[in-house]
Amino acid sequence: MLKSIILAAGKGTRMKSETPKVLHEIFNKSLLGYVIEAVNNTGLADENFVIVGHQAERVEEYIKNNYQNARTVLQSPQLGTGHAASMALPYLKDFDGEVVILCGDTPLITSETIKEFVENHRAQKSDITVMSAVFDNPANYGRIIRKTDGKVDCIVEEKDATPEQKAVKEINAGIYCVNWAKVKQAFSQLKTNNAQGEYYLTDIIKWGNENGLAVDAYILKDNEEIFGINSKLNLAEAAKMLNRKIVNKHLANGVTIIDPDTTWISPETKIEADTIIYPSTYIEGENVIGKNCKIGPFAHLRGGVVIEDDVKIGNFVEVKKTTIKSHTNACHLTYLGDSEVGSGVNIGAGTITANYNPLTKEKSKTVIKDNVKIGSNSVIVAPVEIGEGANVGALSCITKPVAEWALALTRAPLKIVEGWVKRQTK
Ligand code: UD1
Ligand code: CA
Repeated sequence: MLKSIILAAGKGTRMKSETPKVLHEIFNKSLLGYVIEAVNNTGLADENFVIVGHQAERVEEYIKNNYQNARTVLQSPQLGTGHAASMALPYLKDFDGEVVILCGDTPLITSETIKEFVENHRAQKSDITVMSAVFDNPANYGRIIRKTDGKVDCIVEEKDATPEQKAVKEINAGIYCVNWAKVKQAFSQLKTNNAQGEYYLTDIIKWGNENGLAVDAYILKDNEEIFGINSKLNLAEAAKMLNRKIVNKHLANGVTIIDPDTTWISPETKIEADTIIYPSTYIEGENVIGKNCKIGPFAHLRGGVVIEDDVKIGNFVEVKKTTIKSHTNACHLTYLGDSEVGSGVNIGAGTITANYNPLTKEKSKTVIKDNVKIGSNSVIVAPVEIGEGANVGALSCITKPVAEWALALTRAPLKIVEGWVKRQTK
């Protein structure tokens, strides 16, 4: 089985945040989480070593609570990427398989690419494979320096590069696959005689060549996958890139998305063909949306939402942990949380399921059976059930179960005082 080492000890100064860089999130998942899951989803890896340093306790806590097959290893002080990777040595003393080394701040890397990268490493019978990419503007990246026969010779960091080397457009993506037993000796031989005075992981390439190992590069197909996060701007850009890929996938599957630029759809959301998503809709968490639905404009699905076919969720409607059966409409200004809504239901404008008791901090469930009609501006106080076919009059506050086919109504009597306005203004 394969193992991974994920470098995540760096400071991330430019994030200007009290949160460690790799714990920043896109769609409620940390940058580090994306990388770990990309490795896990290859199905090739059984263990991930996350190298932590800056704000180590918070990252350790996060890993412990979220990823069972990942463990953290402390790097203190942080003396460079080569030093960081070597922190895993004590845990991999007798390990004889491949290790993939990645960075915790490149969340867009996909499991498909990692898998292909490892398969390429195996097919080429390589001992060290580095992932490279060709950039029009290679500034700040390490450059892949090839020999005249095209084989990879070494990696030179921008700060150490000659003008000729700086002109090279093939860069080091910062992802490596190594045959651990052969490469582990390299770590004790790395030097710090470079512009940054650090132990460079990139020096294992030169070392491999000098020690008769098979060294190779794999050229990445989609450069966006190694987009690194160094600032809040980068974080926003990466989220856009990820979202655009998700939106494009849904478009390809037959979902109509009126405005891809203002529509946000989480990676865990499934949508069937011929559903229409209107502009400025935000869908986060895990959701399933059937076919021929209309969602938005300005809808917010917050996860745990299961919507059957032919459902309308209109403007300013928020839905959380709720199942909605077919042919049900909630078209305007509504909150549905922790609810089960039947089919053929009409939820009037301004309906609220009051699911949260702020005193006990408990959430309760609302059940609305098939064909129920809820009048506008009603509050349904959970836990409560509204029976099949029942009607709720506008402006009602429902605090007791409503029997099937009943009318439920809470309403102060309407008083009309003739001529009242004129008398006030005489
Ligand atoms: C590194 C590569 C460069 C490559 C680029 C791709 C080296 C020397 N250079 O440069 O060739 O083009 O990545 O993005 O490796 N880290 C630690 N401990 C340390 C230092 C770094 O864990 O002591 C982690 C950082 O948190 C980060 C990753 O390693 O996740 C990369 O470090 P960074 O300083 O960003 O390297 P670059 O200068 O970008
Ligand atoms: Ca970097």
